[in-house]
Amino acid sequence: MSKAIIIEQTGGPEQMKLVDVQVGEPGPGEIRIRHHAVGLNFIDVYQRSGVYALPLPLQLGMEAAGVVEAVGPGVTHLKAGDRAAYASQPPGAYCELRVMPAKCVCKLPDEISFETGAAMMLKGLTAQYLLRKTLPVQGLQAGDFVLFHAAAGGVGLIACQWAKALGYQLIGTAGSDEKCALALAHGAAHVINYSKEDFAARVKEITGGKGVKVVYDSVGKDTWDKSLDCLAPFGLMASFGNASGAVAPFAPGILGPKGSIYVTRQTLFSHITTRENTQEMADDLFEAVTSGKVKIHIDQTFPLAKIQDAHIALEARKTTGCTIITL
Ligand SMILES: NC(=O)c1ccc[n+]([C@@H]2O[C@H](COP(=O)([O-])OP(=O)(O)OC[C@H]3O[C@@H](n4cnc5c(N)ncnc54)[C@H](OP(=O)(O)O)[C@@H]3O)[C@@H](O)[C@H]2O)c1
Repeated sequence: MSKAIIIEQTGGPEQMKLVDVQVGEPGPGEIRIRHHAVGLNFIDVYQRSGVYALPLPLQLGMEAAGVVEAVGPGVTHLKAGDRAAYASQPPGAYCELRVMPAKCVCKLPDEISFETGAAMMLKGLTAQYLLRKTLPVQGLQAGDFVLFHAAAGGVGLIACQWAKALGYQLIGTAGSDEKCALALAHGAAHVINYSKEDFAARVKEITGGKGVKVVYDSVGKDTWDKSLDCLAPFGLMASFGNASGAVAPFAPGILGPKGSIYVTRQTLFSHITTRENTQEMADDLFEAVTSGKVKIHIDQTFPLAKIQDAHIALEARKTTGCTIITL
């Protein structure tokens, strides 16, 4: 048996219930893992509220770290007793113990704690594919400007540090002066408090009128229009989230006069489709963390039984950096 958080219908944080679930033996390609810590992500909010529709009842959670207890037939990269961490579908990480597909579960380097592993897999792999693979047609060179919204959040603080290590000038936006200071302290070259300032005008000022080569936008509805105006000709609008709501449909014709800009909507789960591509990205992330280039900030922890409070804080923009659920 395992304690787990499930929803029977979509809605607010009150829909999440702590229950006991039966956990069986792993089948082909599966493992059973005992979690030591679980990561909190904004995607959990979308799945809970129904923004991303999934079959119900649903056990939530997409990220965790722990110890492998048993492996099913065909699993060769893990064995019982291995420390491991993952960002993976299907949801179900909000629990003590689960059976799940092994493909996206990676061995956790000894230097990385379970708490850090649980905090960094989904957010760190996202920062990895954004900064390494979600690039404008001309690529990115050292010194180039990029705009990254919600820069003091979980993905944001990792991206600030990683962009600096890659030599990019990351302009970070955040919703308060305190959050802006945090992003700046973590490697953002410039910060904009977008709750007070017109971020498109400030981006023009900072870049001497040229604009940025990429906008990484996870805020969605509230930032979309102005983000398009921040781009240099042939720049890339990389949408990867909708914390403020879904982006409204738009006519492609608007992209020409803005400088023949490109638009993409990315999801981590298009990048981690095989054991090989997952491990390749995880190795890059593990190197960034163990070398000290990227430090994982766990600024909030909540016990599993207080999961509702964790969601309330995340949705109310009260968190910074990463949040973990303790067991
Ligand atoms: N597509 C992918 O592959 C992928 C993977 C991981 C994460 N994501 C997305 O990346 C974003 C960051 O994820 P995270 O888990 O690290 O969360 P987070 O950044 O720690 O939290 C979300 C942040 O978004 C900002 N925000 C702006 N408007 C908001 C609103 N109306 N309501 C709530 N928050 C708002 C807030 O920062 P300020 O107060 O500073 O504005 C808030 O702290 C999320 O949108 C998530 O869905 C996408």
